[in-house]
Amino acid sequence: MAADSGKMPSAGGKAPPPKSSESGIMKRLPRLALVFLVALLYRQLQAPAPRVPGTPGGPPVTSPRIRLKDGRHLAYHESGVPREQARYRIVFMHGFDSCRYDVLRVSPELARELGVYLLSFDRPGYGESDPHPARTDKSVALDIEQLADAMELGDRFYLAGFSMGGEIMWSCLKYIPHRLSGVAILGPVGNFWWSGLPANVSLEAWNVQVAQDKWAVGVAHHAPWLTYWWNTQKLFPASSVIAFNPAIMSPADMELIPSFAYRTHAYQARQQGEHESLHRDMMVGFGKWSWSPLELEDPFPDGDGKVHLWHGAEDLIVPVGLSRHISKSLPWVRYHELPTAGHLFPMADGMADVIVKSLLLGDE
Ligand SMILES: *[C@@H]1O[C@H](CO)[C@@H](O)[C@H](O)[C@H]1NC(C)=O
Repeated sequence: MAADSGKMPSAGGKAPPPKSSESGIMKRLPRLALVFLVALLYRQLQAPAPRVPGTPGGPPVTSPRIRLKDGRHLAYHESGVPREQARYRIVFMHGFDSCRYDVLRVSPELARELGVYLLSFDRPGYGESDPHPARTDKSVALDIEQLADAMELGDRFYLAGFSMGGEIMWSCLKYIPHRLSGVAILGPVGNFWWSGLPANVSLEAWNVQVAQDKWAVGVAHHAPWLTYWWNTQKLFPASSVIAFNPAIMSPADMELIPSFAYRTHAYQARQQGEHESLHRDMMVGFGKWSWSPLELEDPFPDGDGKVHLWHGAEDLIVPVGLSRHISKSLPWVRYHELPTAGHLFPMADGMADVIVKSLLLGDE
């Protein structure tokens, strides 16, 4: 861009006579201004580098971590009964703007009674796990497999995931079904552009969102390179989920939001910067997928496992319509629609136990 292409080469290979420096600058001024503007714009679009945990200037590493084959670390948190005593091992995937401590709150009584061990981890870019700018809808499923092997969970294990982590359950069903004993998908984010979704179903779900989220989600899908700028600029309202906008809270969620918004570890979710955590989540979750959950085949054709899908009918953060449609299209999905629940139902009193019991024991 800065090359001086406006000059004609002189015939004899000789430089043209030097102009007076003043007129040279005057001629170049518009071009310099353009270069300056483009550079300025580029800087605005570029997210700052993530603050990598355990590096100078980055957040401290306080949790145990495993090292993946590509050198990245995943930080994890264990709960329930000790791993060696467990009858059931569940890997839990947290949602948007959350971290490893946002694991399902299974009661100690149920964990003891059934022998439940829970392993949760910071998804890449969150908490104390290394950022993964190359992450895709597939990579996190393979991360989980490596984590399970590093933690010696055995050939097969259970999975549960909430919200953005619920959407990742579909990826696990596609890429690592042979490793799974059963799956609980809780209020999963859906991608309006998955192939096989009827236009009216997508549109109905799309229209549940407030206008500013239609924009934020649309930008993440159509212009992912603009996601950072869109969600940090001040001209238009950005994602209402990032901003905790009460307009997207159902009555049931209003009651649960204080215990979610004020949890003491909340700061950990975005501590590497919003780009590698929140924005990257949107770019992957609403990005262009080469496959669709609607194409998935029954991962447990022999009946030795179950896929449970839970969604609140009054969810204003993640519209219920896509889950409803997927559950109708995939007869092997056991669908639980909660008529008065919003998005945060897994945090409601006693609900984690209900979800885990149905996953492990096949109740209901
Ligand atoms: C979409 O259209 C189909 C066929 O016309 C109809 O059966 C279905 O109920 C519609 N779904 C929604 C969510 O509007």
